[in-house]
Amino acid sequence: MAFREYKVGARMFGFSLGTSMCITLLFPSFDIAASVSTDVALDKQLSAGWDAGFQLKDPLLLGWNKPLKVLVKNDPVTNQPLAEPIYAYVYKPGTSMPNGATHTDSLGEGVKQLSIEQGKVKEAKEASGAVFLINKSGKLPYMENASATRGWTPGDVLKGVADEDISHVGAGKTMFVREGCWWCHTLLPEQTQDWQVFGAPPMLGDFNGESPTAFGSDRKGPDLLHVGSRNASREWMMLHFFNPRLVQPHSIMPRFDYLWGDKDASGQKIDFDKWRAEYNDYREGKNPSPPDVPVPAKDSEARKLIDFILSLK
Ligand code: HEC
Repeated sequence: MAFREYKVGARMFGFSLGTSMCITLLFPSFDIAASVSTDVALDKQLSAGWDAGFQLKDPLLLGWNKPLKVLVKNDPVTNQPLAEPIYAYVYKPGTSMPNGATHTDSLGEGVKQLSIEQGKVKEAKEASGAVFLINKSGKLPYMENASATRGWTPGDVLKGVADEDISHVGAGKTMFVREGCWWCHTLLPEQTQDWQVFGAPPMLGDFNGESPTAFGSDRKGPDLLHVGSRNASREWMMLHFFNPRLVQPHSIMPRFDYLWGDKDASGQKIDFDKWRAEYNDYREGKNPSPPDVPVPAKDSEARKLIDFILSLK
C-alpha cells in the first residue's frame, strides 16, 4: 500500500506525456514556411534589413548595417515629380541585403516568383547597394529591386531628400530590441477584446522573413503594434521617452533620456544634471512648468527609436 498515490500519479503523468507526444508527432502540422508574405511583411523586412537583433555587422546593437526608409517624391533618374510619393528602401553599398532577396523561399509561393522574375531581387548586390520598393500593382505584392528595374541608385535616391522624409526604422528596431522594450510591451494584439483597444491582430503572412519578431510576452504597458495610428505625434514621443512622467504622471516606464547622446539638434551640449534639478523643482511645486526637453539630434538613437515607433501603424 505504501506510495500508492505516487504510483497513480506517475501513471497519469506517463499517460498525458505519451498522449501529447502522439499529438505532436502524428498529427499533420502546418508548415509555417508555406505562408505567403503580405505587404506588411515586405515592409518589415525591407525597412529592418538583415537581423535587427545581434549580427556580426552590428555586434553591440548600435543600429549599424541598416537600410533607410525614404519617402520619394521625385523620380530619382529624371527628377520629374512622381504621380504619388512612394516609399523606397535604400541599401547603401555594404549594407547586408534583406532576407527576402537572399532567401527568396521566405517570401512564400507567388510572392517569391514575382519578386525574382519581375522584381529582379536576385540581381541586388551588397557591394553596389540597392534600392527596393514594394510593388502592389497585382493581386500579390512583391519585392522590387528598383536599381535593376528602374535604374535607381542609392546615391540618386538620397540626393536632395529632406531629412524629415528619411526614416531610420531598421536602426530604431535595433534600439527597441536592445533596450528591452519587449519586457513591458507586446507587438501582438490578440483575438480578444484587444481588438477594440489595440487594433487588429496581425496575419500569419505578416511575419515572413522578420528576425527577430519582438512579439514580447508580458504586458506592463500597452501593445504597440499599431501605436503610430493612435498617436502620430513626434513631439509627444519625444517628451515621453525623455521622461514618461512629463506626459503620464504615474507611468512606471523608465526614462530613455540617455538615447539623446551628448548633444541636441542644434549641437548644444545637453546638461542632464541641470535638467534634473529643474525638473525636481517643478515636482516640488517651485517651478510652474517642467524644463523644455531637448530636440534629439538627427543621428541620435532617440530619433531612430521614435522613427521606428511611429512606423508601427
Ligand atoms: C517597465 C516597463 C516598461 C518598459 C521597459 C518600457 N515601457 Fe513603454 N510603457 C510602459 C507603461 C506602463 C506605459 C503606459 C503609461 C505611459 O504612457 O507611460 C508605456 C507607454 C508607452 C508608449 C505609449 C503607448 C500608447 O498606447 O500611447 C510607448 C510608445 C512606449 N511605452 C514605448 C516604449 C519603448 C519604445 C520602450 C523601450 C525603449 C518602452 N516603452 C519601455 C512600460 C514600459
